[in-house]
Amino acid sequence: MDQDMFDNEYNTNAFGGIWTYQKLVALKKYLSAFTTALKEKPFKLIYLDGFAGTGSCDIKIKGEGERKIIEGSATIALNTKPPFDHYYFIELASRKQSALRRLVKENTDRNVDILDGDCNQALIKICETEEWKRARAVLFLDPYGFQVDWTTLKAIANTKAIDMWYLFPYSGLYRQAPKDVDALDSDKEAAINRILGTDEWRQQFYRPSPQGDMFGKEGEVRGSHQDMLDFVTNRLKQIFPCVLDPAVLYQGNNSSGAPLFALYFAVSNPNQQARTVATRIAKHILRAP
Ligand SMILES: C[S@@+](CC[C@H](N)C(=O)[O-])C[C@H]1O[C@@H](n2cnc3c(N)ncnc32)[C@H](O)[C@@H]1O
Repeated sequence: MDQDMFDNEYNTNAFGGIWTYQKLVALKKYLSAFTTALKEKPFKLIYLDGFAGTGSCDIKIKGEGERKIIEGSATIALNTKPPFDHYYFIELASRKQSALRRLVKENTDRNVDILDGDCNQALIKICETEEWKRARAVLFLDPYGFQVDWTTLKAIANTKAIDMWYLFPYSGLYRQAPKDVDALDSDKEAAINRILGTDEWRQQFYRPSPQGDMFGKEGEVRGSHQDMLDFVTNRLKQIFPCVLDPAVLYQGNNSSGAPLFALYFAVSNPNQQARTVATRIAKHILRAP
């Protein structure tokens, strides 16, 4: 993604936590493009935040070691113009729910539900009960780690009405799937199965080692980051009609070192026109070719 875009947006140079700018700027741009594109259409417009936080984020500023407070996803959504018709903020931590309630009090003209509890249960319920023939939604999934179950992604895809931004916890994936296959235990395997909905990743991530290990014993080596990311992308493509290649986000300003997150955009609506509009906007935001 384009570094200038973030520096201009917040008039600052961030280094640690740059991915926080990246995901939030992408979200901000998409939300206003989405409500603008659909404002004349006969749909109820819904914003869903699976990991709403407090409405503000703490960012480390380059060179100073100081932290800066910026708008979090909930604030960005509430400030989106034209506004959404309904907002759902899901948040597990009670202290953060209190901060969200204060935020909502400052925005009494917005129709907001703060949902206490686990994102998976709350989202599946909304996916199964909302009248999606008459509604369109943007969902932001911004977990710290491996919180989003594959079954939840399937429920989201089944609505055929939700555009999803998912900050996939890629660094978590390569920690759970360690380089050394001997360190891969059953807990780690189960965690990966839960977020990818299959155990087929095992064949793609680990290949027989051509040289064997240092003692000449036959072994397995983990594939490249690209192999692992391709697997995730292809899995999402099995349930969403349209998935863009992710923006890979790193610890710092450049792509040296291992990736931290993969920012995915996926469209659940199979309608060709809806997909074209959504992906044109999202591609522009992601600076995809
Ligand atoms: C990365 S932060 C979200 C930041 C937020 N999107 C923002 O822009 O300000 C992740 C949030 O998810 C919450 N959380 C963690 N596990 C959760 C779960 N299973 N369901 C819902 N929220 C959860 C945490 O309390 C935390 O506030």
